[in-house]
Amino acid sequence: MKLEGKRIILMGPPGGGKGTQARVLQEMFGIVQLSTGDMLRAAVKAGTPVGLQAKAIMEAGALVPDAVMVGVIKSRIAEPDCANGFILDGFPRTIPQAEALEAMLEEMQMGLDAVIEVRVPDEMIVARITGRYACAKCGAGYHDTFQKPKVEGVCDVCGSTEFIRRKDDTADTVATRLQAYHQQTAPLLPYYAERGLLKTIDGAAAIEDVTRQLVEAVAG
Ligand code: AP5
Ligand code: MG
Repeated sequence: MKLEGKRIILMGPPGGGKGTQARVLQEMFGIVQLSTGDMLRAAVKAGTPVGLQAKAIMEAGALVPDAVMVGVIKSRIAEPDCANGFILDGFPRTIPQAEALEAMLEEMQMGLDAVIEVRVPDEMIVARITGRYACAKCGAGYHDTFQKPKVEGVCDVCGSTEFIRRKDDTADTVATRLQAYHQQTAPLLPYYAERGLLKTIDGAAAIEDVTRQLVEAVAG
């Protein structure tokens, strides 16, 4: 099964496995991961105007304004590597963002191949989020229980021994992030179902099984 060149949106709750799966697809098929969360975290770190605007909002677990997000994704999607397909991870997150994406893709004469909902029940989310960490050097993702490195304390991908945890990965912030998902992002599910693009997979399964379902859903 080949997914080269595909344009995919991954939807799902915070900690639902979007980033984990997007990185696997990027590795397997060379379609680039476009994570707005990662872009914002890089902007915060670099202290850019977008980063300064986003920092407190992200730490509170709320959504950054649509106009900012549309600007961020518009310049990224125009870059040459996106011509080989892309996986949107964390965008769009509101109806206005989806409408802006539709207009932007139309202008570039591009269409979407699939919108995949990675469905995970709320009860699983706190454990997913509070156990998450990543390699400080290459960004590879891990989990205290569900995705440990092969050698404890050493990144499988780059061998680094430094890891980081996200500031918004606290039990307190999870409730706000889940509320934002259900209230502001979930309306996108019927939006894409009406356009015949939506498929739902079981994100509560093991990581490899979710990948298998995802590849089948996009290819099929
Ligand atoms: P963002 O970075 O997008 O965060 P999020 O949506 O809350 O999603 P996460 O990254 O927390 O989860 P994930 O689904 O990627 O899960 P992961 O694969 O890591 O956004 C952060 C913030 O930026 C937002 O709150 C908002 O403020 C702002 N923002 C970003 N985009 C925006 C937009 N478009 N509009 C407005 N604001 C925006 O998995 C989690 C953990 O679980 C990992 O440790 C992993 O190892 C483990 N795991 C994954 N899959 C499995 C599995 N199947 N079984 C067991 N463990 C698993
Ligand atoms: Mg993520």
